Amino acid sequence: MPGPPRRWAGEPDSRLASVRTLIVGHGGREGALAMRMAEHSELHAFVGHANPSIVRHAEESGGSYLIGDVCDARAVAAFARETDIDLAMVSADEPLQAGVVDALLAQGTRTVGPTTAGAEIEWNKAFARSLLSEVAPAAVPRLRVVRQEGEVAEAIECFGSTPVVVKPSGLTGGKGVKVMGPHLADHAEAREYALALLARGRPGESVLIEEKVTGAEFTIQAISDGRTVVFPAATYDYPYRFDGDEGPGTGGMGSLSLASSALPFMTAAHYEDACSIIERVIGRLADEGRHFNGVMNSGFFATAEGVKVIEFNARFGDPECMNIMSLFSGSWPEVMERITSGSLVDGDVRLREEASLVLYLVSPDYALGGGRPYEFTVDRDTIEADGTNVFFSSATSLGGDSYRTVGTSRALALATTAPTLEQARVRVVDAAVSIPVLEWRRDVGEEGYLDGLTGLVRSPV
Ligand code: GLY
Repeated sequence: MPGPPRRWAGEPDSRLASVRTLIVGHGGREGALAMRMAEHSELHAFVGHANPSIVRHAEESGGSYLIGDVCDARAVAAFARETDIDLAMVSADEPLQAGVVDALLAQGTRTVGPTTAGAEIEWNKAFARSLLSEVAPAAVPRLRVVRQEGEVAEAIECFGSTPVVVKPSGLTGGKGVKVMGPHLADHAEAREYALALLARGRPGESVLIEEKVTGAEFTIQAISDGRTVVFPAATYDYPYRFDGDEGPGTGGMGSLSLASSALPFMTAAHYEDACSIIERVIGRLADEGRHFNGVMNSGFFATAEGVKVIEFNARFGDPECMNIMSLFSGSWPEVMERITSGSLVDGDVRLREEASLVLYLVSPDYALGGGRPYEFTVDRDTIEADGTNVFFSSATSLGGDSYRTVGTSRALALATTAPTLEQARVRVVDAAVSIPVLEWRRDVGEEGYLDGLTGLVRSPV
């Protein structure tokens, strides 16, 4: 094992000769982590493209970046060796499944994030459901797991007239889940979709058919050293492409949190029960000898019958990470050290008791089958001077204030915190209207939206 980290950059004048950290990945989530890591360390980044936020934070901290395949575990590990990294952070689903953390740990690089085995809670939903049915059976919606085409019709039939949700067991980037109502007209369409997933999946890959739960969704970005779990306020994500939750599912068009732990449609019991389930899941992973530390982005429905689990992600949510990083007021490398040394305590994760709001801006063809490059301008300095952070995602710099989208994902996020959600919304919207070409949901953070979800929870638990 390596020796203790050099010294903390938070100590006076130590920044440039300080701890060296590594972030792996290139989304808005990694942009926000990069900002916090670069405040107290020399940041190095392994990225799939030159994300302007990550490049800036790495360069300003005296660090570096390398463009490569973030799922190439050997290449990431080699970069960590070359840059003499003290502490690494991996918080993206595909690198976690690909064993990037395994490779870093194997060479002695202290790393925040689970191994492939720990991350199975995310990349194998059938495994997650099976584990959950042992530690929190009441929180599992009724489900069937199908592995062969011949099993699909009977599995759908056993739900009778109850609407269902069809989910691939593997990673989907938030886009593979289809729900009766918004995406599937009836049980026949649900059957066709399950068959299509089986046909296009790898041999042996399963599909989950679950009872559709009536409730309002929330997530908790639980932070853990594998034993102790710290629970920030619940976050709310806007997964659909258009206002009023219309259109296809996306990676998330925005997210928010309030100064209180629970959201308006939740009871205190919803929040506490969800935290207790997360603790049991992390405890079970440890009991099974699966290395898990870092963040469990845990998705739930608040219902009249208590909480139901949607899924566990073995990493920060994107956009929700930006809520937490915007509220965070300490040294994130120090939190990383506590996590990797198994000495995390509640007070290590200092979060301001304010509302936070993140809004993603996307290409006009985002989630609609597009992917052509769009050029746009962002006056980042003015927006940041007004108190909103700009976190680029699938975009690269063209010089000055000009940028171009890359790939098929979201372009950039705007994030802020304020005493009230409405104050945060006004600030973020002021920034969004100054950016041409890109599209965004007008109802993210709108007053009344969260209260409107209370009807879905029907009666208190
Ligand atoms: N916000 C959805 C995700 O991070 O998977």
